[in-house]
Order: sequence, then structure tokens, then C-alpha cells
Amino acid sequence: MRESVLLSELTTLRVGGPALVAECGTTDALIATVRALDAAGVRVLLLAGGSNLLIDDAGFDGVVVRVGNNGVRLLGDSVVAEAGANWDEVVSLTVDFGLGGLECLSGIPGSAGATPVQNVGAYGVEVATLLRQVQLLDRETGEVRWVEPAELGFGYRTSVLKHSDAAVVLAVEFALDPTGLSAPLRYGELAKALGAGDGETRPAAAVRAEVLRLRAGKGMVLDPADHDTWSAGSFFTNPVVPEDRLPQVLAAIADHVGADVRVPTYPAPDGTKLSAGWLIERAGFAKGFPGADAAARLSTKHTLALTNRGSARAADIVALARTVRAGVRERFGVILEPEPVTVGVTL
Ligand code: EPU
Repeated sequence: MRESVLLSELTTLRVGGPALVAECGTTDALIATVRALDAAGVRVLLLAGGSNLLIDDAGFDGVVVRVGNNGVRLLGDSVVAEAGANWDEVVSLTVDFGLGGLECLSGIPGSAGATPVQNVGAYGVEVATLLRQVQLLDRETGEVRWVEPAELGFGYRTSVLKHSDAAVVLAVEFALDPTGLSAPLRYGELAKALGAGDGETRPAAAVRAEVLRLRAGKGMVLDPADHDTWSAGSFFTNPVVPEDRLPQVLAAIADHVGADVRVPTYPAPDGTKLSAGWLIERAGFAKGFPGADAAARLSTKHTLALTNRGSARAADIVALARTVRAGVRERFGVILEPEPVTVGVTL
């Protein structure tokens, strides 16, 4: 157990105060540690890649369990990764070995075990569509078992595992395409860059290279030397507006930005999805808001990433998030929900 570890050193936003940290380098250690802490009634915070966490400056009053089991096994048509495996290394390995499927999810920071928790998605692919099974530790019963995707209640950036302490992800298995072709290309910007029509496939390696290029252009590939990438990725989810509220929201947008401006909308299962980045920008928060001297500012490449310019504390990130959220709510009547898990802070 390590004492007084600054959690800012373990998160990609690089904020968060001190805590006790238990390092778990194997699946057995992870299971034993969580079982023991649960039995003792100690609060537990699971931390792997730290790329989707906003932790308070006061730190965490309990034990931070570091998910460090990182074995990866390639099978003929799937990959099994332990929860702490670096996600992009898993993707890269599958592509190098001629297995297609995960290439659109290239360059995403964080660990393999975190991907099912919020059904990570990018460039037209969500992990839920490729997952074969997830190995879980049930914290109520202490039991370990593999579960199928149907049990996990996947939706846009969510699952039954999100905002729940009921289970710990120990490992994940993804079904892959042994022909080495990508998943069908569904994201306009990506398909266009690859000269592909909607739903066509391309070699996984070519798709991975293009996704990495697109992400880097948006500041969404971590680079320790570049403060524009010190973020938790998208800070807000794209809001889904129910059909009965949509006319009102579109009218408020037209009032504010002009009736001739085309609003990006995407059909969603329970309404219409709007683009949070677009709304933020049209509400008056330009890329780089509020300016070069601020400790926390919007990325200069993408309004949806809140970034730490080096000296920001959690309080600075929270203040910026509140300002942006209030502005979008006031102008358009849309409430943006944070995507990262918040610990000790509320917006
Ligand atoms: N836009 C702006 N200003 C900006 C950025 C974007 O107006 O500064 C508008 C543009 O109209 C653009 C649209 O927003 O066409 C969509 O932008 P983008 O293609 O970057 O996608 P996104 O909806 O902002 C989502 C995911 C990303 C994922 C990309 C690509 C969410 C919350 N975010 O972003 O995921 O990489 O699509 O698929 O769903 C993450 O979850 O952390 C994440 C980075």
C-alpha cells in the first residue's frame, strides 16, 4: 500500500489530491484486494488508465485500487485482454496480427477493462458491438464469472457497470475478423478520408492510421508534451433531446445563431442526438476559451475537451465545466451531462 499518492499523477487530466493506493499487478491480487477491502467496509476507487476521471483536490478518502493486470492473448478470431492492459496497445496488437474490428477505436487513452463500462465508442464503432464476453468480480457475492453483452445494458456511452460499484471488470474478450478487414465504415469524415462509401470496409491497418491522424488533429491523442491533450477526452456526452422537446430547442438555436444555420443532428433510439461540441461553440465558447492565461481552458482543437494547461486544479476544471454548461443551458435550454466519472465533485 502506498500512502499519500497524488492522484493527479495517475489521471490524464492531471488533477486530484492524495490517497492511499494499492497496486494490483495480477488478476488474483486485484480480486483478493477488492474482496478484503469490501469485507472490511473500506471505500474503494478503481483506477486503471485514469483517462475518464475527475477527482477532487481533497483526494479520495478510502483506498484507490490500481488495476494493473495487463496480459493480452490473441486467439484465432478474438483477443482476450486483462482489465489493466493499455487499450491502444491491445488495438495495435490486433491490427498488427491481421485481426480486424477494433481499428476505429485506435488512439483512445485508458485501459481495456474500462471500455465496456461506458461503452466506449469512436468513428462509428462502439465496443458493445464487438464484445464477446466480460469477466466480472461480483462485489456482493465475491464470485468471478464471464457475462455476455446482453446482460450489460449497453447504450450510448453507458452500461449497467457505469456509476455502479456492483462489479469489477477483470478481463474482456472481443470477437475479431481474421480476414484483417475493418468493421464497416459508418463515420462520414473517416470513410471520406479513406475513399470509402458508407458501410464499406478497408484493411484494418489503413483505418487505424487514418483514425490516429483524425484524432490527433482534434487533440484527442495523449501527448505528455502538449497541454492541449491533457484532458479526459470528451468532457460532456452528446445530448439526446426527446422528440417532444426538439422543436423548442431548435427554435432557441435558430434564435441565437440564425435560422439559416444547419444544426448537426443524428437519430438516436430515444430522441435526436445533438453535438455537444457544436452547441458549446455556438453558445459563445470558442476553442481555447477563456484564453491563453487560464489554468483550465477548452482545447484549442476541440471545444468538447476541457484541458489542464499545467497548473490547473480540480476546482479550475469544475469552474470551467460549470461556465460552459450554464451557457449552453441558458442559450439553448439543453443540459450537458459530464462524461467522466466524478469523484468528490459535482457540477
Ligand atoms: N464541433 C464543433 N466544434 C468543435 C468540435 C466539434 O462545432 O470544436 C462540431 C462539428 O459540427 C463536428 C461535430 O461537432 O462535426 C462532431 O465532432 P466530432 O466528430 O469531433 O465528434 P464528437 O461528437 O464531438 C464523439 C465522441 C468522441 C469520438 C468522436 C469520433 C462523444 C461525447 N464524443 O465526439 O469520443 O472520438 O465522436 O467518433 O460521444 C470521448 O468519448 O471521450 C471521445 C473523444
